[in-house]
Amino acid sequence: MKKIKLIISSFLILTTLFPGSSYARTGELASKPDSAYLFSYATGKDNNHNGLHFAWSNDQENWHRIGPEHSFLRSDYGRWGSEKRMLSPYLTQTPDGLWHCYWTLNEYTETFAHAASADLIYWGRQSYDVKSYPVDPQHERCSIVLYDEPETGVIHKVAWKVIENLIAAKDRTVYKDRIYSETTGEDPVRFATLKPFDTKVIVNGQQKKPISDLLVGVFFEDINYAADGGLYAELIQNRDFEYTPADKEGHDPDWNSRTAWSLKGNNATFTIDSVQPIHPNNPHYAVLKTDRPGASLTNEGFDGIVLKAGDKYKFSVFARTLEGKNGKLQVHLTGKDGRIYAEGSTGGLSREWKKLNVTLAAKENVSDARLEITPAATGTIALDMISLFPEKTFRNRPNGLRADLAQAIADIHPRFVRFPGGCVAHGDGLDNIYRWKNTIGPLEARKPQRNLWGYHQTAGLGYFEYFQFCEDIGAEPVPVVAAGVPCQNSACKHLVGGGQQGGIPMSEMDAYVQEILDLIEYANGDVKTEWGRKRAEAGHPKPFNLKYIGIGNEDLITDLFEERFTMLFNAVKEKHPEITVIGTVGPYSEGTDYEEGWELANKLNIPMVDEHYYQKPGWFIHNQDYYDKYDRSKSKVYLGEYAAHLPGRPNNLETALAEALYMTALERNGDVVHMTSYAPLLAKEGHTQWNPDLIYFNNEEVKPTVGYYVQQLYGQHAGDEYLTSRVIVSENSDAVQKRVAASVVRDSRTNDLIVKLVNLLPVPTQTNIVLNDVPAIEGTAELITLTGKPDDKQAKPATGTVRISNDFDVDLPAYSFTLIRIKQNNTNLTKK
Ligand code: AHR
Repeated sequence: MKKIKLIISSFLILTTLFPGSSYARTGELASKPDSAYLFSYATGKDNNHNGLHFAWSNDQENWHRIGPEHSFLRSDYGRWGSEKRMLSPYLTQTPDGLWHCYWTLNEYTETFAHAASADLIYWGRQSYDVKSYPVDPQHERCSIVLYDEPETGVIHKVAWKVIENLIAAKDRTVYKDRIYSETTGEDPVRFATLKPFDTKVIVNGQQKKPISDLLVGVFFEDINYAADGGLYAELIQNRDFEYTPADKEGHDPDWNSRTAWSLKGNNATFTIDSVQPIHPNNPHYAVLKTDRPGASLTNEGFDGIVLKAGDKYKFSVFARTLEGKNGKLQVHLTGKDGRIYAEGSTGGLSREWKKLNVTLAAKENVSDARLEITPAATGTIALDMISLFPEKTFRNRPNGLRADLAQAIADIHPRFVRFPGGCVAHGDGLDNIYRWKNTIGPLEARKPQRNLWGYHQTAGLGYFEYFQFCEDIGAEPVPVVAAGVPCQNSACKHLVGGGQQGGIPMSEMDAYVQEILDLIEYANGDVKTEWGRKRAEAGHPKPFNLKYIGIGNEDLITDLFEERFTMLFNAVKEKHPEITVIGTVGPYSEGTDYEEGWELANKLNIPMVDEHYYQKPGWFIHNQDYYDKYDRSKSKVYLGEYAAHLPGRPNNLETALAEALYMTALERNGDVVHMTSYAPLLAKEGHTQWNPDLIYFNNEEVKPTVGYYVQQLYGQHAGDEYLTSRVIVSENSDAVQKRVAASVVRDSRTNDLIVKLVNLLPVPTQTNIVLNDVPAIEGTAELITLTGKPDDKQAKPATGTVRISNDFDVDLPAYSFTLIRIKQNNTNLTKK
């Protein structure tokens, strides 16, 4: 040890005395050339999706690829995957030393893309509107042969250090990839010799800090049929006849205004018309022409309609007679075999649109009923907004939420709800941005739209319903609005201006800014204000007490974004200083958007930023110090989307424990991390575009995942004060130490102490917990354990008790999350 110290200090002395001299270099560097050739290219493989690559040579004959799979710059233009292409990159250097890369976006966009870099490793913002770029005659594009493959690119002579840094950057990525890819699958080898060991958690009750009391919330996005067919309790699919082939970009020939509807019986026709709609926002309606009685229009619901014996269902429809008598409508809920499970009939139709209602009582339980509407009189009628709602919705709200799903969310005890996305918030192209005003008011006047996840949004679950739900479950509403730009992954559709670069035109930005200010007025304004009155008309005169608003969703940080975001941020700040604006720093935990987003946050003093990262479990294991490195004086963090992703994307004990482990670090950093939400929240079986999710469901069942229980345990056992603790593991191995974590918080409302412990190892660890400088305690406490095999998707928390004192032992099973709630008012607890 002494010898090592001596070597280090001699090295320090030498490098201080002779900076830049060969004493300051490693022997390895000294043997290298001063310069070499660097070839920049985009590989022809994978149809040029792969970004900018480098190879080096000292004779321009023998070329060495710098990690054939490693790209140093990727194009972020257009839709995920297939549209993000880099064709013919051209690398050039300006006299100031800055590198510039220009590339062609695809075969049809006439402008070029540009990004700049000081070191060829970190690249700044991308722009896609470059009309032309300067080609240096000394560095024209040329072809070389790289391992038998001809490649076209540009050759530059650069200092060897440049190449060395590129190789080191590539090696870092390879190394990180390797450690982040660690899974429990290798544990039998990685921990082959590991025996049960001891852990000590020493809590210092004197060293404590306040932490956010909003740490655990939920992220709601209409993805995976989370809203229509999911949380929104409507049972009729395509109730407004507004499904359109464009919802699925024309890829599904069966997806149109008639989807989910069919005609039963002969001598009748069912067509769609739009001549005289109930409201211009809802142009299409059904026209049913019957020559003989008995024909009906039927709806199959979302994978059938579930009825519960004894429950009531509210049917409503807008109808008018176009031709024939003004008869009534008979309404039946029937099985596939034609059995009737509920029935009723409406009042008579008239020549004008009229809303008709009838309540139906289900006689039996049935899982796949359908709705049948049968006109009593023959003739031609028009029908629209055909709706069937269970009377029992969450908190019995009209136009409400499916009770069991809403309850599962409420059971997390989320302190906030983020809505309406995710990408749904900023939309796929300008015309798909989620505009909150389209989603309030009478249902027939709301404006449905294509959901970018490939289906249809009725907007039945709209801003009013979101606010109401938040209030019902005691959660802060956190609406996220587009920052004047759509998703950077918007489809290009062979048009110039696809992708995020097509922001809202500046001539329309003032109106858009006003729209966001109006949202705040809608939530909080007096009933005498224009938008406050609309809230009152919807049945909520009291303000919703909005405190947060997210502007932007993991956007590409471009000049165009900055311009629009700044306008919105400044306007909200000026008019509503009481509202905390949450900015955005891209979709990853590092990289250009993250850096540029944080730079903007620092420049504008944005109070909070929204970070997103979906990572492998290994990332969470190896980055527990991620926020310990954050500057406390800068913006607070809302970790708005995160989840542990394993290959195959399961939600199992392994992913859940990786999240639980990381959440101990989130609590420790609860002074800078203000809010967090796992994403996405809901997924309907058979209609899932994204895995893993927190809660899966079908029409009858709610299926919480293992990850759900982790969120629930953190949500239900949150604290607002963090007590410093030290985890000492008897095994002297980094791999072991990184897989054991603890967090101790106090809930000031109850004064309870909550200890959370994670063991992500294949062996148990006997843990000694020492509670220093907290009131003396002795008795029993609640013990909750979540454990099983890493690939277990069914693990559930088990509740028991544990004997506790200021120095007590608890066994942490292999692969487990353990929570101990020490109730200060517990009668089993003797305070010494
Ligand atoms: O959570 C699913 C998606 O992931 C969100 O819509 C988007 O913000 C992110 O890319």
